[in-house]
Order: sequence, then structure tokens, then C-alpha cells
Amino acid sequence: MTRFGTPSMALGCDNDGWMDSRDVVVVGGGVIGLGVAWRCAQRGLTVTVVDDRPGRGASHAAAGMIAPVSEVTYGEETLLTLTMESARRWPGFAAELERASSHPIGHLREGSLAVALDADDNRALEALFRFQRSLGLDAERLTGSECRELEPALVPGVRGGVLVRGEQQVDNRATTAALLLACERAEVELVAARADEVRFVGDRVVGVAVGGEPIEAPVTVLAAGAWSGSLPGLPPGVLPPVRPVKGQILRLMSPGGGKDRLLQREVWGRVEGREAYLVPRASGEIVVGGTVEEQGFDTTVTVEGVRAMLTAAFTLVPGIDECELVEATAGLRPATPDNAPVLGPSALDGLVLATGHYRHGFLLLPVTADAVAEVVVSGQVPEEIRAFSIDRFTRAGAPA
Ligand code: GLY
Repeated sequence: MTRFGTPSMALGCDNDGWMDSRDVVVVGGGVIGLGVAWRCAQRGLTVTVVDDRPGRGASHAAAGMIAPVSEVTYGEETLLTLTMESARRWPGFAAELERASSHPIGHLREGSLAVALDADDNRALEALFRFQRSLGLDAERLTGSECRELEPALVPGVRGGVLVRGEQQVDNRATTAALLLACERAEVELVAARADEVRFVGDRVVGVAVGGEPIEAPVTVLAAGAWSGSLPGLPPGVLPPVRPVKGQILRLMSPGGGKDRLLQREVWGRVEGREAYLVPRASGEIVVGGTVEEQGFDTTVTVEGVRAMLTAAFTLVPGIDECELVEATAGLRPATPDNAPVLGPSALDGLVLATGHYRHGFLLLPVTADAVAEVVVSGQVPEEIRAFSIDRFTRAGAPA
């Protein structure tokens, strides 16, 4: 087995340099941490994941969209290369995960449709469409009636749309459950507790303390989502610049369940000046999201958040008034100053970063899991994640 770096000091060493330790400790049991853990275990490493509520953070509140073309944003072309590569890997990743876990994850490829409800929105959609086409992305411009032919439940006044065929989605909670099962089958150890702090030998990270007890490994992967920017023990220059961005989200159920689904594909629109999306599952569930709020670590579900999302969903698809409102919840997206993740080695030996996925945790899961496992196993940083090193924030002139 190859390790990332070499343990510099004995912690009570065996022949390999480590006694009673694992090969990797992953801090964070959301989809990113579990995906990295699974990939590392598949490559023969012994892995421990530390999380007091595995799968219950942002992964629980997400919609599971895998829609890099619909979500492309001006100025984020570098991120697009990573999101497109990850979307390309998703069908294989989904099939492999379902096989490894014997658990379906609701992977669908029905596409996405962004719609405009008035002339201003239609101009903005036209500009987005031209931007997508200038980047060589497959997107089709539709009239309002073409949108309604595809999705008859859309409001009659829809002015126009952009269709992206083949964009994907997974059921976020089924995917988390599948990752937990796949990790268990691959003998990943799960410690259901919060990491108190990072442990060091000299300048080298050698694991974490949990309930006062050490969990040691030559490599620690920081994948703690919105909490990654505040893990105790790491000096300020090493902590990734990650902050929480609250997202409230609704889960509705169609009256007929999976029969007579209201929508076939993800639908995006702007209502009251805010972006909203509806993500229909095969079961008849419709996920409606999502607010974007700078509220620190607050996860309160608010009347205003629920009102805004219900108004947006009802304005776009009036037939949702027949649905059951099953759940309103809130999660914390791990955001960085440039909205892109922080991946790969850190400034400290023994510490690898896999965080800051902001709105794209599910979308970026396959490429993150593959690439970060490669860093852990071989110490090599794959080409596709080189632009996402923490160095971009720490060198002179970096974004604040
Ligand atoms: N990717 C959708 C969201 O973060 O709301």
C-alpha cells in the first residue's frame, strides 16, 4: 500500500510507522466524506469516518440535481470543467454504487427545463442560452408553447425556456444511504461522534481527537462541509475559507404518488426575483428549493422561506396545490469565496481537503471521491482538480 507522505515520528510505531492506527481518517460523513472513504477503502486502505450525524447535514437537505449546464454561472467557467467531468462520471458511479450497496439511488436522466414567466426573464434566459452555447454546451431554446408541450403542468403564461436534455438527478437520501451501506461493506469504520480537534506530531497532522481519545492515521481528510472552516486545532492559514450558506427546501408528494407525475424533468424559474427549482422523483415526490441565505449556522425553517418556495412552486406549476406538503427543512451549504470547492493537499503534511462544494455536492461527488482518493493513495494530484487547490486563496492577490 502506498501512503500519502510518510509518518515523520513514532506514535508507538509498528514496522509501517503506525501502531493501532488507520490509513485514513475522514472528518465528515456527508456524501463527500463517504464517497472519499468508499473509494479509499476500495483501494485497500483502512478508513475511519468521524461524524456525529452521518448523512444528516447538507446531504440530507439537498435536491440531488446533477445539472451542470443549467447551473452554469457567468465567471465560473473553470468550475464548469469540473462539474461537466463529474456529470460525465455519474452514470458509471451510480451503477457501481447501486451494485456495491444493493440500494437503488433514483438516478434519472430526464433533463432540465429553465422557464421564463415574463419578458425580462425571457431576455435573461436568452442571454444565459447564448452563454451556454458560447461554451459549447448542449442547450435548446424553446417557445412557451414548446415548454408546455413538454411539461403540460407549467403555468399557461410561460414565455419561453431552455431545455438541457439528459441532465441527471439522484435521490439525495437514497444516495447517502447507499454510500453508508457501500462503506460498511468495504469495512469503513464509522465513529458517530464529533471530532473535537486535529492532532499533530510536530507540524504533521496525525488524525483527530474524539471524546478525548485519539483516532490516528497518516492521512486526515477534511470533508466536514460547512464546518470545515472551523475545525478546532487547525491554524487560520490552513483552515479552508468555508462558510455556511443556509438553504431551505420543501418536499411535496403528488396525490397519485408515482402515477400521473405532475412533472417529468427538473424545472427552474424565477419568481419574485428569486430563483426556484422543482425536482420530480419517480415516486411522485417533488423537491422544491431553495433559499440562499447568509445566516451563519442557523438552520431554522422560517415562515418566509416556506412561503417564498410555495409561492414560486405554485406560480410555476399551479397543480402543486393538490400535493401533500411532507417536509420543510434547512441545510448549510459549504461556500467558498469563489463558489468552487477546495480539493487536494493542504499546507500541512497529512491533511487533505475535500470541502467547499457549495451548491454542487451531489454533482461533484464522483470526481471528488475519485480524485481525493488518488491524492490519499499516491500523493499525486489529478489534473482535473489542480485548479481547485487551497493555494488559490493563500497566494498573494488571492480572492478574500
Ligand atoms: N444545487 C441547488 C442548491 O444548492 O440549492
